[in-house]
This record gives sequence, structure tokens and C-alpha cells, in this order.
Amino acid sequence: MVASEVRALFAVASRPEVVSLAGGMPYVTALPLDMVGELVSDLVTRRGPVALQYGSGQGDPHLREQICEVMRMEGINAGANDVVVTVGSQQALDLITRIFIDPGDVVLAEGPSYVGALGTFSAYQAKVVHIAMDDQGIVPESLAQTIYALETAGAPIKFLYTIPTFQNPAGVTLNVARRQQVLDICQRAGVLIVEDNPYGLLGFDGEPMRALRADNPEGVVYLGSFSKTLAPGFRVGWALAPHAVRDKLVLAMESAVLSHSSFTQLAVGAYLATQPWQEQIKTFRELYRERRDAMLEALGALMPPEVTWTRPGGGFFVWATLPEGLDSKAILPRAVAERVAFVPGTGFFSDGSGARQMRLSYCYPEPDRIREGVRRLAGVIEQEIQLRDTFGTGSTRGHIGVDTPGPDLA
Ligand SMILES: Cc1ncc(COP(=O)(O)O)c(C=O)c1O
Repeated sequence: MVASEVRALFAVASRPEVVSLAGGMPYVTALPLDMVGELVSDLVTRRGPVALQYGSGQGDPHLREQICEVMRMEGINAGANDVVVTVGSQQALDLITRIFIDPGDVVLAEGPSYVGALGTFSAYQAKVVHIAMDDQGIVPESLAQTIYALETAGAPIKFLYTIPTFQNPAGVTLNVARRQQVLDICQRAGVLIVEDNPYGLLGFDGEPMRALRADNPEGVVYLGSFSKTLAPGFRVGWALAPHAVRDKLVLAMESAVLSHSSFTQLAVGAYLATQPWQEQIKTFRELYRERRDAMLEALGALMPPEVTWTRPGGGFFVWATLPEGLDSKAILPRAVAERVAFVPGTGFFSDGSGARQMRLSYCYPEPDRIREGVRRLAGVIEQEIQLRDTFGTGSTRGHIGVDTPGPDLA
């Protein structure tokens, strides 16, 4: 496990005068906090002996039923018996990796991919092989070719890790036609899919996308989370897995923590049972849509023309690409000095790629702050381009390994 080189900078970046476009923190202030407070207090006074007791390794049965209801919104038809409640989907990722990976095994992942997953894969000494992605998600041809090349070389592929909807960090979504292709390619090759979907219900237009798991219950382990649709502080996520994998997940869960907190599981259960949770998701979607719009408009108005970026249809992130000769990690200290922060691209790859890229998040700052942050960042990039044009490109530092910027930045 390697601490990020940029951690120290982010300590500075959390000062109030800095506009942080770095963090991936949901805007929990938009929750009805009084109601949540009442619900939690009620839980202790009325159901304290259960809420404050150990629970089962698989998770509270009633909450697992409710989770199935949530997943139905993405076309998933599953039984509570196949769900394991975990400490956020991050723990589900850890348990899945622990179950499947021996050192040197291959995990396929989009390039770029979620930094927290790359950190977990690296901790278990998996070898991550990236699959090309464009603005429609994973490129199926790249997936097929990579699987073929690895199989020919005798490398054991354990699973494909993918975030098909509103991806972290790229903000892109796998289109419908490609979903079927990805399922077919993996099924033919006997490669399990781990579908990580914390942002699926946070789309800005239309109905939620159909999950990969909806069309292949046996070939997909689905990871879900209440961190983005309710609050990450409860640390309630889940895995939905085929029976054999589910059994191992429960054993791994028990060995890791005995059981999840009964208290937070029952609190989430009570929230789902008594509050208009679908309306709350709508509130979040509207709030994030406004912030996404603010960011895209500011980027369009202020960024030098050589900079490009993705246009997310949901979720939290925009992925920007700098012109040739610029290095986002080298720019970060200057950006922080100008009171704006982002996450450099290299942390989202396990092979040193991403030097010209950066993740910009719009989930936390208010629209005016987003516009101001983009204005500051555009100024820094403009200066970098001028320096490049005057002095040529400096050597960019090589970087191999995974940066883990910390939970608030994941
Ligand atoms: C793609 C992805 N997966 C998993 C997680 C972990 O979320 P949690 O453990 O809070 O459910 C995150 C958090 O940002 C994420 O972006």
C-alpha cells in the first residue's frame, strides 16, 4: 500500500479559501437532517436492544429486502438471500478481491478507473490491465482483444471491474448496445464481471439505465451503496452475488468485522421505510445537475481551446485532458497556490498513464464556487501553455503505482 504523493497538498487544499474540485463528497447538507435525527433517536429509544446488538454476517434481513426494491429501479430482479450488506461498497470490493485474487492474478478495469478500487487491487497484489474507454464507456473491441492476448499468454484473469454508469473518474456511461457486447464477450470468455454502481440512480435525464446484472445474474457481482443516494456516514453498501460467491462473501465479512453495525443498518432501513427516499434522490439529481451545468458552462467559456473534457449525464465527475506537453501533477501545486484543487490523472491508472488528465468534481461546491474554481484553473492552465510555448516541454516525471488521495477525495 502506497500513500499518495499528493496527500500533503490536499491538506492545504481543504482550506476554505481553496475551491476544491478534487473531493468526491456527496452534498449531505441537502438531506432533511432534522428528520434523520428524529429517526435515529427513535431507533435507540424504541429498538435499542436490537439496534445496539451484534447482527448477522449477511446483514439485516429486512434491509436486504429493501435493497432489492432499490435495485428493481435498475431492472434487477433479485432475492434478499443473495444480498450481503457491507461497510460501504468499498468493503464489498475488498472482500471480492480477497476471495478471488492471488498475487499476480489479473483484474481488468477501465482506464481510468476508481482510485479506491485500484488501491484495493494493488493491496492484494493483483495486476490491473486497463481496457480502453471512450465517451460511450468501455470499447468492446479493446476488451475482446485484451482478454484474447492475456489468455494466449496464459495469464489468469479473475474478473472485469467496471463502473458502467456515470463512471468515476471519467463521468461517462456505457451505452446500451455496448452493455450487451460486454456481457457477451465476458460470458464467452468465462470472465466474471464486478459491476460497481454507486451513481446509477443519479442520472440527470430520463430513467435509470438497466444494470448489467439485470441481464446476467450468474455472470455479474453487483455492488451498490447508499453513500451517494443517502449519506456515506452510514457506511452501508452491499454486494449482490451468485450463490457460491455470496457464501464466500458472508464468510469473508464475518472474518473481517463479524457483522456490520446493526445500528446504521436499521437507521437506513427506517429511513427507507418512513421517508420519501425517491423524492430525496430527485432532489440530489437536480442539485447535481445544476452543478454539472455550472461546471460545463464555465469550462466552455473559460478554458483554453486546447483543453477537452467529458460531458457527464449524471454522477459527480468531469474528466479533463490537457494539451500535449502539460502534466497535471506538476500543475497541481501552482493551482493550489491560486486556490483551486483537482485530482491529477495518474492516480486513476495503475500503469503510469494519465499525466495529461485531471478529475474535476462538481458534487460539493456551490455553482458560484464551481465557476470561480474553473476561472482560477483556466488561468493556471493558460500560463502553463504560455510557458510550454516559450520554453518547450519539460521532462515529465515517471509515475508507476496507485495514488490513494484519501477517503474524502475518492
Ligand atoms: C466507483 C466507486 N465505487 C465505490 C465507492 C465507495 O463508496 P462507499 O464505500 O462509500 O459505498 C466510491 C466512492 O466514491 C466510488 O466512486
